[in-house]
Amino acid sequence: MAAPRIVVTRRIPEPALELLREGSELWVSGEDRPLETAELHAAVAGADAVVTLLHDRVDDAFLDAAGPQLRSVSNVAVGYDNIDVPAASARGVLVTNTPGVLTEATADIALGLILAATRRLGEGERLIRSGAPWSWHMFFMLGSGLQGKTLGIVGLGGIGRAVARRARAFGMEIAYFARNRAPEEVEAELSARPLGFEELLAEADVLSLHCPLSEETRHLIDAGALRAMKPSAYLVNTARGPIVDEAALVEALRSGEIAGAGLDVFEREPEVEPGLIELENAVLVPHLGSATEETRTAMAELAARNALAIAAGEPALTPVNAGQLKET
Ligand code: DGY
Repeated sequence: MAAPRIVVTRRIPEPALELLREGSELWVSGEDRPLETAELHAAVAGADAVVTLLHDRVDDAFLDAAGPQLRSVSNVAVGYDNIDVPAASARGVLVTNTPGVLTEATADIALGLILAATRRLGEGERLIRSGAPWSWHMFFMLGSGLQGKTLGIVGLGGIGRAVARRARAFGMEIAYFARNRAPEEVEAELSARPLGFEELLAEADVLSLHCPLSEETRHLIDAGALRAMKPSAYLVNTARGPIVDEAALVEALRSGEIAGAGLDVFEREPEVEPGLIELENAVLVPHLGSATEETRTAMAELAARNALAIAAGEPALTPVNAGQLKET
């Protein structure tokens, strides 16, 4: 049997490429940028499997360009809002993602943003680097402590739980809103209280987003939701940018409707709403959630193993649409 043709749309860590080289006829983009649509479509033509990154749009046009032999799309990300899963399922194309391997790294960044926003770390750093005179005094750059405060989590999956565990170590109380109630043992371990969305907005001292982006969650945090939060509350987003209406967030941060925000993801990434950049009470980092050597390598290896398994006729390790696949 001829080796499967596998296309990787951007540079990924070498251990994953080694795996793929052994088991396929491999084409890898040498770029660290997303391919333009026309380049992407040309690259995937004739592929049996494609390993995609989170900014590659996998839609009908992509699937048409790839051709009917395509069997799998393996996203190197846990989020797969860049992929039209029903369109892939309708063509019998299996989609996989990378859950689990980036949970701890992403939770670390969420906690980092919680600390940076509540303790004004970005603002302090900018002050020092500006060369402006400063001196310690009792009321200098006071932030907000976490002990005894409520962390409101939207989406209590793996990452939400890992953030909750960290926050418990900082003395925070946990409340959450999720589509499905978490198992009893999870609630017990985290002392997590389930709340309605409105209740969570009203109670959270820090609101951290850990839900996938979907039509249901797009602009979940809009002007109304921000108005419902406490003026002393902070918003942290390490999930997907479009879950937050960025223009509304700028207004809420400017007017003091909420106290601050920590953002790892942006609505029109890599573009950042200009209003955010001017705000001292916004901590902004460039989508670093999974950005450790170990995690990125594990993500790429998992995607590679998924692509190879499917090409060999074996079950995928972390399928997204196994149950929905149409026979072709
Ligand atoms: C993911 O896996 O969805 C992350 O956003 C990548 O960092």
